[in-house]
Amino acid sequence: MQRCRSRTLDRVRSIDDDDFCTQAHPDFSPVGWHLGHIAYTEAIWILQHLAGNAPLMPEYHQIFAQDGLPKSERVKLPQIETVLEYLEIVRSKVFDYLEIAPVEQQERLWKWLIQHECQHVETMTIVLALIDAEKFSLRSESLDSEEFNDMILISAGRFIQGSNEIEAQDNERPAHEVELDEYWIDRDPVRYGDYRSFIEFGGYQNPDYWTSEGWEWVKSNAITQPLYSGKDHQPVCGVSWYEADAYARFVGKRLPTEAEWEKAAHVQNMLGEVWQWTSTWFDSYLNFENYPYSGYSQNYFDGKHRVLKGGSWATFPWAMRNSFRNWYYPHVREIFSGFRCVVVKGV
Ligand code: AVJ
Ligand code: FE
Repeated sequence: MQRCRSRTLDRVRSIDDDDFCTQAHPDFSPVGWHLGHIAYTEAIWILQHLAGNAPLMPEYHQIFAQDGLPKSERVKLPQIETVLEYLEIVRSKVFDYLEIAPVEQQERLWKWLIQHECQHVETMTIVLALIDAEKFSLRSESLDSEEFNDMILISAGRFIQGSNEIEAQDNERPAHEVELDEYWIDRDPVRYGDYRSFIEFGGYQNPDYWTSEGWEWVKSNAITQPLYSGKDHQPVCGVSWYEADAYARFVGKRLPTEAEWEKAAHVQNMLGEVWQWTSTWFDSYLNFENYPYSGYSQNYFDGKHRVLKGGSWATFPWAMRNSFRNWYYPHVREIFSGFRCVVVKGV
């Protein structure tokens, strides 16, 4: 918890009062809201739920609860110092409780909470990137990849999807066997060097490559390139599901299903560059049980969110593993999202 927190604080170190309260995009709350919400969530689940304490600083309930205020009204926040102090007050009470807590029995919730912080820090990083990526010296430290278009063969057969490990989120459970046919998957996420040929070939102006919904979205938002820019060797970052899907069609491939992505991740490392869109709708696995509340995953099993896998350069290690599932609406491109492609070759 302390290691995660020091990385959280590192990421907001150079921020000023203005940026702390800025709503950079209608779908995203200000950085300061996320920071307060991290403390609030810790107080609710550890101090109230586990320790049985009375609500701490109830004046923060409305502002920092997930269902407190609409996003547009989350801009009137306490000062940075006040929010940092709130984090500190909650944390010191949590550590007092930790002295007597039966942690072995509570391990799942403590680990859930660390991952909750990780996920909000990534969203804070997204908001900072939307304000000014350079000012906050954010960059995707990607591997230099010499070969483009290199694909690896995943042979037909079974693998275990999901996880029953203590840190696994409700939506990753239960682990279960899946059988797949043979397919080829990109060794690396698609690079700008490759993606540029789609742009230059007029991909954004040609409905042939797009689903009808995607084409509506491209036209009505006048989209012509990924949201974030990068060098040829870097992974494409800041594309919607529609763009990923269109590019795959342009090169005669398709997006992987979540299962195809996850099986391939058992063979090679696919973590930590960019989140990767899959063709799978976010839904529960068989025998799903919500944890710790239905608002974490279950409310999003609505057939309107697509699964992303892998984690980005902004993801902390506690929330990055092959079975981890992220989910967003297909039009969202403010996140650090890219993709791999898959192809099935005939015999
Ligand atoms: C899984 C990243 C879409 O930030 O909305 C945080 C995670 N849920 N607090 C989000 C989450 C509740 C969620 N995402
Ligand atoms: Fe949250």
